[in-house]
Amino acid sequence: MVNLSARIEKHLLNIPEERQRALKGAIPLAEGAVERDGKRLLNFASNDYLGLAHHRLLQKRASEWGATYGTGSGASRLITGNHIAYEKIESRLAELKGSETALILNSGFQANSSVLATLLSRVLHGGRDRPEVLLFCDKLNHASLHFGAQAANAKQIRFRHNDLAHLDQILDKYGESEQAKIIVTESVFSMDGDQLDVRAVRELARRHNAFLYIDEAHATGVLGAQGMGLCAGVGAGGGSSEELVMGTFGKGLGSYGAYIACSHSMRDYLVNSCSGLIYATALPPQVLGAIDAALELAPTLDREREHLKECGNLFREILQENGLDTGLSTTQIIPVIIGSDQKTMAVAKSLEEKGFLVGAIRPPTVPEGSARLRVTLSAVHTIEQIKGLAQAIIDSCKEVGL
Ligand SMILES: Cc1ncc(COP(=O)(O)O)c(C=O)c1O
Repeated sequence: MVNLSARIEKHLLNIPEERQRALKGAIPLAEGAVERDGKRLLNFASNDYLGLAHHRLLQKRASEWGATYGTGSGASRLITGNHIAYEKIESRLAELKGSETALILNSGFQANSSVLATLLSRVLHGGRDRPEVLLFCDKLNHASLHFGAQAANAKQIRFRHNDLAHLDQILDKYGESEQAKIIVTESVFSMDGDQLDVRAVRELARRHNAFLYIDEAHATGVLGAQGMGLCAGVGAGGGSSEELVMGTFGKGLGSYGAYIACSHSMRDYLVNSCSGLIYATALPPQVLGAIDAALELAPTLDREREHLKECGNLFREILQENGLDTGLSTTQIIPVIIGSDQKTMAVAKSLEEKGFLVGAIRPPTVPEGSARLRVTLSAVHTIEQIKGLAQAIIDSCKEVGL
């Protein structure tokens, strides 16, 4: 007889100590800080890249909308959860992204997993068990994108990370195929902080007659025209009907939720078919209020984005001069690749003792042998704090024998 609880316990016992995950309490503080175990730490492990989660305008609008409209939306968007503000926010988004239209979903994970699955749906591709579509995915795509492919029982054809020449070769190989082709990639990669050449991938997709799906979770708020991502701008994001651009509000825009920038027919298709939209309670009014304020504010924050860029360049320069490996990063996400799980954990612990919170990322989130610190900078950090963190990393690495 199958005893699931016993199997779960056995599985847990088999996870090596250095790979175990646990939830640890934290109190978010303003000015790029966090409290953990009663101690104030500088927070270099958050995706709140502009510090907007503590911005007065977002806080004020979130609390006003909560006070006026209540704390829950009460139903899915297709029932009575479609607050009138959605329409205004979505047209503002479409304007900023340069797309025909936009659609808000509850989270980035929910958007990728359910929208991608909906694009791969059997109904759309001939009703077979496995969707009649060829799916070309960057090897380092986010887990939510894998989940979407899995949900549709679709096989992924992986290309080498951010290697468009390799993608081109693979697409050539399938050139004669009658099947629809979808390329799925990210504009800023979450664990490496490197950037996609958006212009080149668009050209490639056009030449191979492939549909393009780009995740802008880590570019939104930070990079591109008015900070709205590398696919943003007039006639850009979702400007082609053969493109869908996804992004999130929970990182650079300081709130929560996700958006799709796309064509009118794609939006109609998703409203009719996407289970993540149809069968989920809509976002609460406070969150919509914060999103509304963030979209008002984001285009005005060029100075903050410039500061963030300078901090990133300085931080990488100091680490590299000291022999540390920051991978391919060119953005506010900066890995310090260590390799060993144990040493990565030891460095993160030593940094915490010095007053800095930094993410320690191990396989399977990143490939075997590439455990790393994932440093995320925020525009609210000062140059002095960035220098302090860089020196602390150098010291902590020495302490653990690196
Ligand atoms: C590239 C990427 N896409 C999607 C998501 C999921 O977004 P959310 O946190 O809004 O669920 C993440 C989250 O970390 C991400 O890194």
